[in-house]
Amino acid sequence: MFRNIKDVKDLKGKRVLVRASLNVPFSKEGILLDDFRLKKALPTIEYLQDKGARVIICGHLGRDAHMSLGPIFHHLQKHIRDIQFAHGVAGPDVANLVGNLRDGDVLLLENLRRCDGETANDLQFAEELASLADLFVNDAFSVSHREHASITGIPFFIPAYAGLLFQSEYEELQYARNPEHPALFILGGAKFATKQPLVEKFLTIYDHVFVAGALANDFFLADGHNVGRSLVSDPPVNVKHLLDHPKMLLPSDVVVLTLEGEKVVKKIEDVEDGDMINDAGPVTMNMLEPIIKQAKFILWNGPLGDYQLGFIEGTKNLVELISRTKPDSVVGGGDTMSLITKFGYDKQFSFCSTAGGSMLEFLLKGNIPGIEALERSTERSHE
Ligand code: 3PG
Repeated sequence: MFRNIKDVKDLKGKRVLVRASLNVPFSKEGILLDDFRLKKALPTIEYLQDKGARVIICGHLGRDAHMSLGPIFHHLQKHIRDIQFAHGVAGPDVANLVGNLRDGDVLLLENLRRCDGETANDLQFAEELASLADLFVNDAFSVSHREHASITGIPFFIPAYAGLLFQSEYEELQYARNPEHPALFILGGAKFATKQPLVEKFLTIYDHVFVAGALANDFFLADGHNVGRSLVSDPPVNVKHLLDHPKMLLPSDVVVLTLEGEKVVKKIEDVEDGDMINDAGPVTMNMLEPIIKQAKFILWNGPLGDYQLGFIEGTKNLVELISRTKPDSVVGGGDTMSLITKFGYDKQFSFCSTAGGSMLEFLLKGNIPGIEALERSTERSHE
């Protein structure tokens, strides 16, 4: 049990530190490629502004200290009134800016990962951040699998609440762990070793588990097929015991990139040495069609094809199938959502999650460190 921001009776004049999910993709030229996460961050900020809170937003961008949240600030300026940029994360200048905030004002701090204390989960750094505010709101479910200062550290020092986005991510993914049947789980992308426990768990919960993307190559290999130059796990993973599982589904045809650079649809049996499997083919869609028609719930994480190489047809065709019957559905994962929002498909799903790795970890364990930190904060308030 944890509290959310709607549980706070009076927010007027309160300084509220919001951990937002601002890690969005940029092109090499610095162009923002996808503002899906930024749009999803807005309702909590607007709610707090409307209640007269003084809002301080913190977040990270990229893996290291180099990137600035300046471009994010310019984007947010189009959507959030009275927002300023701090150009720093902590220290006297930031404290001064916070001190000058009026009710309804918003201040965006610089990239948290500019400070080593963030990823080191340094409690002194967490305390410095916490000292800027009266309350903390975690609205970054997508980062809440990380034990970082802004996720698990700050709640040690000030009362912590879930934001509106965090709350809905939690509720939707909680439901996805025990959905109405028949239920279909679609898992694409790569790195099977990290996803195998989830596949094994969901074979016990769902009616069908469709494994696609590079993940499926490990199954094809284990089944004795030639996968040519396709991406496979290294070291190889042991999936033989899953091959004949009655709920397990794999692409029945694939789209390969030949050595000559052509895209060719092939049966898996026909893949040759020079081929690289990059997508699921049309026969696979025919196989999935009746399952999708009957499904009461679909959970999807990971694209079917290598979209960076332009293999997007499988993912598009699958969205098309889902959109015909529109069962309850939750979709997530960074690459999946980039594709889905790029083609305007987000309306075809009941819920689009901003989470990637944290979604998978929550689905597997039913908890993640950011939730535990909110729960501890709630428990302390009862002491
Ligand atoms: C994400 O973008 O998936 C989350 O924000 C986590 O980012 P990280 O993988 O750099 O910790």
